Amino acid sequence: MEKITSIKIREMKASGEKIVMLATYDYLTAKMVDEAGADAILVGDSLANVVLGHRDTLSVGMEEMLHHTRAVANGVKRALVVGDMPFMSYQASTEDAIRNAGRFLKEGHAEAVKVEGGRKMIRKIEAIIDSGVPVMGHLGLTPQWVHQFGGYRVRGKTWSAARAILDDAKRLEQAGVFSIVLEAMPWQLAKLITEKLEIPTIGIGAGPYCDGQVLVLHDLIGLTGSSVPRFVKRYAEVDKEVMKALESFKRDVKSGKFPSLAQSYEMPPEEMRKLIRGFRQKK
Ligand code: KIV
Repeated sequence: MEKITSIKIREMKASGEKIVMLATYDYLTAKMVDEAGADAILVGDSLANVVLGHRDTLSVGMEEMLHHTRAVANGVKRALVVGDMPFMSYQASTEDAIRNAGRFLKEGHAEAVKVEGGRKMIRKIEAIIDSGVPVMGHLGLTPQWVHQFGGYRVRGKTWSAARAILDDAKRLEQAGVFSIVLEAMPWQLAKLITEKLEIPTIGIGAGPYCDGQVLVLHDLIGLTGSSVPRFVKRYAEVDKEVMKALESFKRDVKSGKFPSLAQSYEMPPEEMRKLIRGFRQKK
């Protein structure tokens, strides 16, 4: 079994092999995703929405991200583990950026970090890479910028907006990132970026021409309700199965059908006789 590294992810573009990445947040699902053969697992800051129920990704912090990154790393043998740097863990200073990226490797046992943003984040990204931490970039609809964008809208639809994203992608490549997530942009723009870069692009809502694709596991298996973005493809309806199981459990408990003796522990008959004898004598 070949361990996937950030170098291997870069090489996959040259060899034409598509990169499979999933976002997930815990030991058990990370183990399944790894065993299913994903190349990379992102411990996304979407942890905030998907697992913690917050309305955006802004309120999740370093401690929560490290807690979940450790759990994911415990379940993974092959895939590259990427920790997503949360809002305000890198924006304020290069010192913050280096220290917090380092914590993902030292305390979270990740092997790379992901950072949102283009030219405005270049100095921070360079500093993280110079400190020995591989960085995955993220352009397009970067959710930490939601308030500056005025909502979760597709990015790069005009030629000037598209040009700015393309320039950002080039600058990230020059800065030394090993790959870039492209989120929610026209497929033509993602295709152009993919053609212009030597490093791989990993798309989410960016069409079929990226070098790889990423989805949130919970969206893909149908755990996140019916209102998911257009770019999600459902491969299972696990929520329906879970609801069916919970309703059956409730029915069985209410009717006394669960547990049966098959789910119960038994005392050896001799011990039981002694217990009853002892109880009678005491009376
Ligand atoms: O946080 C996340 O899950 C992400 C992916 C959707 C790319 O950033």
